[in-house]
Amino acid sequence: MISNSQCDSGISFVGCGSSTPQKIINNDQLGQRVDTNNEWIQSRTGISERRVIGDNESLIDLATDAALKAIRMANWDVKTIDLIILATSTPEDLFGSAPKIQSNLEASNAVAFDLTAACSGFLFALVTASQYLISGSMKRVVVIGADQLSKWVDWDDRKTCVLFGDGAGAVAIETSGEKNGLIGYDMKSDGSKGGCLNLSQANTFLDLVQGATHQKGEYLPIKMEGKEVYKFAVKEVPIILGELLDKYKIDSESIDWLLLHQANQRILDAVASRFSIPSEKVLSNLKDYGNTSAATIPLMLDEAVRGQRIKSGDLVACSGFGAGLSWGAALFYWHGPY
Ligand code: COA
Repeated sequence: MISNSQCDSGISFVGCGSSTPQKIINNDQLGQRVDTNNEWIQSRTGISERRVIGDNESLIDLATDAALKAIRMANWDVKTIDLIILATSTPEDLFGSAPKIQSNLEASNAVAFDLTAACSGFLFALVTASQYLISGSMKRVVVIGADQLSKWVDWDDRKTCVLFGDGAGAVAIETSGEKNGLIGYDMKSDGSKGGCLNLSQANTFLDLVQGATHQKGEYLPIKMEGKEVYKFAVKEVPIILGELLDKYKIDSESIDWLLLHQANQRILDAVASRFSIPSEKVLSNLKDYGNTSAATIPLMLDEAVRGQRIKSGDLVACSGFGAGLSWGAALFYWHGPY
């Protein structure tokens, strides 16, 4: 566990972007494949449709597009970017997909790497990026959250397939002398409960040479104990957010926007009600995209910024949570141009 920490030197959130696949699959269409229906999915999750990467698109394309939009909003020269972190659990290359994005962006002075923490990935990547900025070793970072869970969902398992979708989002953050955008953060893991939600390797062993086997590189579809994950989220997210608000002496009434990982509308509503945050301040685009894992937070942020809901100077209370189990929270001010 990394304990929460005050950020003394300034970090400014100056750009965001997002990108989603063209193909939309609605609840009725899923009902043609598994025994489910629009009414059940909407009432239990808030999801109406999700996007799925098709054969003319790729995760790297979406991530590149999202990053480019964030860089343009920030008005940066790509050569001034020091670091690109891609939060993903579904890379196109297990050795890492971030360098390909760096090359697509022609950000030749940036180092690029992947970070895996499932649906907490974007938040963990943001905190990781902030350490380079706080230490003064870097000045400009692009943090991307992008996932293609459609590759790993069992589309015949109605308990999971209705929840997930594909997408990408990104933020551009930089050191700032005057404004400190990141007030504070906290991150946690509990691997003992990892079995509640995983995308684990298949234990297939093949003969290698006489007397030796090797493990085949192969993964099983996503497995989830929905109720356990739900209970974990509605318990831990209010705790971690509440501790942060207490630590920085911020009243929940001062929060302009509650920006949670978009997993289930009922989780969003339960967390909001714990802090008496009115629904107008709770950001949600679940109905359009479902749970896009590491992408949900920057995708939602981008939509709210470009839709002129989040404005410069607004305080955002953010929390990511998911497989690992892992969870985290951050309080930040948006300082972008919109
Ligand atoms: N369509 C129709 N019926 C469904 C269904 C579907 N897609 N999925 C499950 N059901 C059925 C179940 O089989 C069960 O039927 P039964 O009572 O005859 O056994 C019934 O609906 C209730 O299932 P249950 O699992 O208790 O529903 P739930 O209210 O817990 O909702 C989730 C299920 C998955 C929506 C909910 O548990 C959830 O959102 N959990 C968190 C998951 C999550 O966010 N994961 C990602 C975290 S990053």
